[in-house]
Amino acid sequence: MGRLRMAMVGGGPGAFIGPVHRRAAELDAAIELVAGAFTSDPKRAPDAAAFYGVDPARSYAAFQDMLDAEKKRPDGAEFVCIVTPNHLHWPVAKAALEAGFDVMSDKPATATAEEAHALQRLLAGMPKRLYGLTYTYTGYPLVREARTLCISGALGVIRKVVVEYSQGWLSTRAELENKQAAWRTDPARAGAGCTGDIGVHAFNLAEFVAGERVSSLCADVSTVVDGRALDDDCNVLIRFANGARGVLHASQIALGERNNLNLRIYGDEGALAWRQETPNELALTWADGRGETRHAGAGHLKTSGEGYTRLPTGHPEGYFEAFANLYRDFACARREGRTIETTLVPGIAEGVRGMEFVELAVTQSRKGWVEFRGGKQ
Ligand SMILES: NC(=O)c1ccc[n+]([C@@H]2O[C@H](COP(=O)([O-])OP(=O)(O)OC[C@H]3O[C@@H](n4cnc5c(N)ncnc54)[C@H](O)[C@@H]3O)[C@@H](O)[C@H]2O)c1
Repeated sequence: MGRLRMAMVGGGPGAFIGPVHRRAAELDAAIELVAGAFTSDPKRAPDAAAFYGVDPARSYAAFQDMLDAEKKRPDGAEFVCIVTPNHLHWPVAKAALEAGFDVMSDKPATATAEEAHALQRLLAGMPKRLYGLTYTYTGYPLVREARTLCISGALGVIRKVVVEYSQGWLSTRAELENKQAAWRTDPARAGAGCTGDIGVHAFNLAEFVAGERVSSLCADVSTVVDGRALDDDCNVLIRFANGARGVLHASQIALGERNNLNLRIYGDEGALAWRQETPNELALTWADGRGETRHAGAGHLKTSGEGYTRLPTGHPEGYFEAFANLYRDFACARREGRTIETTLVPGIAEGVRGMEFVELAVTQSRKGWVEFRGGKQ
């Protein structure tokens, strides 16, 4: 069977996540990058073609040109991967879906909750179209193992969830010289700041693994670095529909932190802990005090038969492979004519929840505080 043909929007030379998507999509030889509208600067389209090794005639100046031309080719792209700054996710997804392409988009689904709802309505009218969202961390083998443990009831009743996503790279005004920081701190291109950039990952990871939905929250979202228009620090108390309590904190001013995403879930029979920087280990503690470490690729995992790893245990896999698992699931669903809901790939439902989380956290922030008088009358 031939490879599924992918076109990319964004991801030009020097971009962060586009090249990651390309490598991950092609890792299992089921997908091939054939075209793109890779950059905001049409003059750089030939450089992008050379960088990715695609036919220069298929490195387009604008995404609408790409959709129009690829639609007409017998060997044209079959789905579109979106890796632009956030403000383009909705217009590109809309144009691609309406032109008949399936879509794999990076997060957040859109720049605003209103756009996410519009995208959900659009997709509701196209039941055969696939729309996947790369909340990367849902692709890690041990995150999927952790989810299986929670959902199967192995930890008992889930009582508490603590999720942290801390980075330090925006603890100074990096946006003055770094292009990735520049659009992330620009309201017109990012939508929201830290909450939308990494808070959504933490939110999605907590719900995905716990298998429980957040039903209320109390947030303190702020901008710490002077001169910045968007939030760079986010602290949220969360409650789940099953009664579990939780804490979610995400920050980009946590000096010294690299990509410290970590999750702890406490049930009444067991607890788990997973860290993104050491993703091949899952720590478990049982109610009788026994500790256990599960290793990616090991035969004793509940999910060992699912093929989420590509190497024998002890050979580290990570970020590329997590993305590759999402792409492989997406490609399988497409080939077999299944919906995204039959896979572990997040879809628009998770996209809408993420955007609603961001907007509620930002707008509700700081409401309901009481002064602490510390004994003073
Ligand atoms: N899932 C993850 O773990 C993860 C990690 C990083 C980034 N992201 C998401 O990926 C997206 C891109 O982030 P990044 O860090 O790679 O940004 P980036 O600035 O490195 O790359 C963005 C690319 O989009 C291109 N672009 C801008 N406007 C365009 C247009 N009109 N047409 C075509 N291309 C255009 C730019 O030229 C650039 O090549 C963001 O939405 C971000 O939230 C997700």
